[in-house]
Amino acid sequence: MSSQVRILALALAVAVAGGLTAAAVSQAAEKHPAVLSYTADGKLVAPADYRTWIYLSSGMDMAYIEGPPPAQHTFETVFVDPASYAAFQKTGTWPDKTVMVLEIRKGQTRGSITKAGVFQADRVGIEYHVKDVARFKSGWAFFPASGAALPQDSGCNKCHEEHAAVDTTFVQFYPTLIAKAQEMKTFSAAYLAEEAKAKP
Ligand code: HEC
Repeated sequence: MSSQVRILALALAVAVAGGLTAAAVSQAAEKHPAVLSYTADGKLVAPADYRTWIYLSSGMDMAYIEGPPPAQHTFETVFVDPASYAAFQKTGTWPDKTVMVLEIRKGQTRGSITKAGVFQADRVGIEYHVKDVARFKSGWAFFPASGAALPQDSGCNKCHEEHAAVDTTFVQFYPTLIAKAQEMKTFSAAYLAEEAKAKP
């Protein structure tokens, strides 16, 4: 029996004992498809189909310190697995096992018929942010394109914990999520304090 089947069987036994029907259990299992998995040595198994997931935003040339404009444009496009997106639309925050992907592409100004503007070209990077409360002390971890989770006190964790609007994710930049977070009052204390300070 695979470990997944064993977990499902266990969930079923618990649910039947608790008076739930088998149909409700299989529905619950469907809601949390196993998009999050690791290799034996703790690396993230990269989701191959993230481009079919839910699109959250594309930031272009976003920078977090003052400086000259970049010589090369970049787009950072964010995707989240569909089940976690659906859960956010109900609760205003992320369920356990959420997987978020930041895809980095070169922004190109010349090509085909364009006379102006910037479009997305070659992929130059990819990063992951995953929620796994049993595995990571803060509940979340960052993964580079390949390799193990970054330490819990990494620069990634720090900026996200100090500035991100909801549960260490940058919902303030995701237009299809911000209203739900507002409605459900799920903004982090750090974010609310920062917003209050920024007001004239
Ligand atoms: C100085 C602040 C800062 C640091 C440091 C930082 N990020 Fe982010 N991160 C952001 C912002 C802002 C966004 C929203 C981007 C957008 O809207 O395009 C973001 C979004 C993301 C997302 C999309 C999901 C989410 O959490 O909102 C991932 C994945 C991500 N970052 C990974 C990383 C990784 C991996 C590192 C470290 C190697 C890192 N980040 C370091 C500011 C930061």
